[in-house]
Parts: sequence; structure tokens; C-alpha cells
Amino acid sequence: MTEQPTTAAPETSYRQRVISTIVREHQSLWRILDLLDQLQHDMNINEQQPDGALFSKVFDYIQHFARRVRGSAEEIVLYRLLGEKSPETRPLLDKLAHGYVIGDGKINELRDLLARCMQHWPEGREDFSHALARFTEALRKHIKKEEGVVIPRARQLLTEDDWRLIVETRDQANDPLFGERVREEFRELRHHIVSYTPERLGGLGLQPAPQAAAAAAGGELLAIQGLKTSYGQIEALHGVDIRINSGEIVSLVGANGAGKSTLLMTISGLQPTDSGSITFEGKDLAKVGADQRVAQGIVQVPEGRQVFKDLSVEDNLVLGAYTRGRSAEVNDDLERMYSKFPILRQKRRNLAGELSGGQQQMLAMGRALMAKPRLLLLDEPSMGLAPLIIEEIFNIVKELKEEGITIFLVEQNASQALALADRGYVLETGRVVVEGTGRELLSNEKVREAYLGM
Ligand SMILES: Nc1ncnc2c1ncn2[C@@H]1O[C@H](COP(=O)(O)OP(=O)(O)OP(=O)(O)O)[C@@H](O)[C@H]1O
Ligand SMILES: [Mg+2]
Repeated sequence: MTEQPTTAAPETSYRQRVISTIVREHQSLWRILDLLDQLQHDMNINEQQPDGALFSKVFDYIQHFARRVRGSAEEIVLYRLLGEKSPETRPLLDKLAHGYVIGDGKINELRDLLARCMQHWPEGREDFSHALARFTEALRKHIKKEEGVVIPRARQLLTEDDWRLIVETRDQANDPLFGERVREEFRELRHHIVSYTPERLGGLGLQPAPQAAAAAAGGELLAIQGLKTSYGQIEALHGVDIRINSGEIVSLVGANGAGKSTLLMTISGLQPTDSGSITFEGKDLAKVGADQRVAQGIVQVPEGRQVFKDLSVEDNLVLGAYTRGRSAEVNDDLERMYSKFPILRQKRRNLAGELSGGQQQMLAMGRALMAKPRLLLLDEPSMGLAPLIIEEIFNIVKELKEEGITIFLVEQNASQALALADRGYVLETGRVVVEGTGRELLSNEKVREAYLGM
């Protein structure tokens, strides 16, 4: 009688599942490191300008991973469990965990060096190449330590319950290896890398879309990298990275004083940049003044509306079009604003200062729309308004998106802002601490606790 094949005992399968997941991840990371080596070789030996799109996809991937696990060894379940059973391994585990934190900053440096190197090619190549080599070496060491020390010790010391706990941590802790939702994101990022890798290097050879086409197709509209800014001696933003794709609503939430308004002012060019970069449609804004930014389509509705109180509603609206000059076209737009916001037509001759808070918010938005924004920056549009009007404001934001305007929405009203958003960021004391799709942020423990009061 032949025996039916039995499924492996669960005790072996949990352990094997964890280890094979880690090893598979290492292999795939190792291939990406090999790819970086080849790209570096092309750059140094074959004098090829670096492929910015491909490099940044690789950086996105590694950085995403580092951010998911950054923190102490306590947050990586495998490290925590092993550390408890093997105190002599703890220093190594701490070091490895710390590597994720450092790695994140290193990637930002690499991005800066890459940008510089691409702008002034071949100047800056050496710096970039050097930093890249150090980075890949560190990452390879990390992998070797995990495979050479961490896994063998864990294999010896962890129990089946431990291994099961590691597997079952899943999405609860954003674990990049065992969280299924998180794994999805990595699959997508890796797919991008493979797509952009040239065929001769074993990839699919996708050509990056030209910038204009990319914007129309939902490509990157605004990219902020490593942004720092200060008020006098006091740094308010400590290296912020944010990306806004064309056609998206991106929400930024955060407590009082986190730096949300500062960030918007920096994008508008009203607050100077200490370091880092802001690019709009791939063009660096460093030397573009605030007025020119408005003319290019970056328009802000400031916190607290800030309408011109002593001017009429109509004059406020017309002033919104100041970068365009007064023309028949502006008159048409005025008409469109009045149909969008009938209350403004009714109050057109009133002084803006006579309007209620909700009416002033409509005016502030109407004024911004007169400038024909492509990227609309909204700073807490719902602040201090009644629920009925807040709802109306969020409806208008949705409508604007449908009209093709990309929106960066700063809100304290986190649940509504995130429900509306394609993607979102959480800013805490000048740093982005969480990012993800609107839905992810709504279900993120930390966000729920700190910003949704749950
Ligand atoms: N003009 C200024 N001069 C000096 N410090 C400032 C100035 N404006 C803001 N700050 C400081 O910079 C930090 C960020 O402030 P910011 O107004 O950007 O925060 P915010 O997230 O918009 O907060 P809020 O929710 O209150 O609007 C705070 O510590 C604030 O005190
Ligand atoms: Mg603010």
C-alpha cells in the first residue's frame, strides 16, 4: 500500500517558511545589488550617464524596505525573539537594526549625489560612485551577517511558537517580509525595477516616458527630496521627502507645529530652502521665484484664508489671476467661478472682510483657481468651519481633482483628508514618519492612535 503524501508537520513548516522567505528576499536584494554594480560599471568604465529613472526605482525599493523596519531591534520580531534568547547576539542585532535607520539617510544622500551627477555630468560621478559602492558593500555585509549568524542561531534557539509568531505578525507590524499587504507594495516596486532595467542587463528594457507625457499619465509632478528649512537658527523641516503624482490628491496630516504650513510655503517659494530639492515636472525650482511658481501652476491657498479683507469679492478673484494679466479670458474665468461658487456672485460687491468663514474659504479657493493651478496647495481649508461646510469643501476638492488639478491637502481633519486622498504623509516635528495610500494610513495603528483618536 502506498502512503498518501502527508503535509509537512506545522512545526517544520513555520520555521521553513520564515527562513525561506528571508533567504528569497536576500536573493532578490542581492540581484538588485548586482544590478547596481553593473550600472556603476557602465557609468565609470563605459562613460554612460546614469539612468536616473532606474536608479531612483532601485532607491525607492531599498528605502521603502528600510523605512518599514526602521527603529529598534525590538520592532523586528525575529530580532526581538532571538535577542531574548541569546543576549550575546543582541549587539549584532542592534547594529543590524540600526543599519536600517542609517540606510534610509544614506539613500537620501545617494539621491542627492545622483541628481548632482546627472545635472553636471560627468562632474560628481566620483562622489556618487563612491557613496554607491560603500552603500552596496554595507548592504551585502548586512545580508551575510543575517545568513551567517542570525539565521543559524535562530534556527537553534527559536521554538515553533516563535517562528509562528514571526509569520503571524503579518500586517499588524508593517513587517516587510511577512506582512502580505506590504509584500504587495514590494512586488510592485520590484516590478518597476525589472521594467526599467535594460534588456542587456536582463530586464524588460522599458524606456522612461518623456516628462510631459509622464505627467499626463499620472507621472511625478512634484518631487521633494531631503528638504530642510529653518527660521533663523531653528530648523523646522529636517529632510523631508515627498512625491506628488499628476492627478492625485495627496494629504498631509500632522499635529500643530509639525511643519505642515512651512512645507507648503517652501513649495510656494515663500520660505527659503536650506538644502534638498524641489522639482516640478522634473525642473528644479531652486532659482524660480514665488511669482514664477504661480505662473507655472503652483498655487497655494494659505492657512486662515488670508483674503484681502478691504477689497471686494470680485477684486479678490481678479487678483488671483494677476500672473495672467486681465483679459477676456480672465472675465470668462470669473464667470466660471461664479457658477462654481454662486455665493460669490451674490456677494461680488461686498468687501471680503464682510464674509463668513465658510464664504471666505470659498473665496480663497476661487481666487486660487483664477490662477489656473496645476498643483493646488490647500492649507487646512476646513479649519474653524461648520461640518456642513467642511463636507462641501471636501466635495469641491474631489471635483477639482476630476477637473484634472493635482491637490496637496494639509489637514488636521485627518480622517476626512485621508479618506479622500490617493496617498498621504504624516509629518511629525519636521519629518515624514509614515507614508502610504490613504487607505493604508487610515488603517495604520500609529495614525489611528495619534490622529484619528482611535
Ligand atoms: N515665522 C516663523 N518664525 C519662527 N518660527 C516659526 C515661524 N513659523 C513657524 N515656525 C515654527 O516652525 C514650526 C513649524 O510650524 P508650522 O506653522 O509649519 O506648523 P504646522 O504644522 O503648519 O502647524 P499648525 O497645525 O499649527 O498650522 C513650529 O515649531 C513653529 O513654531
Ligand atoms: Mg499650519
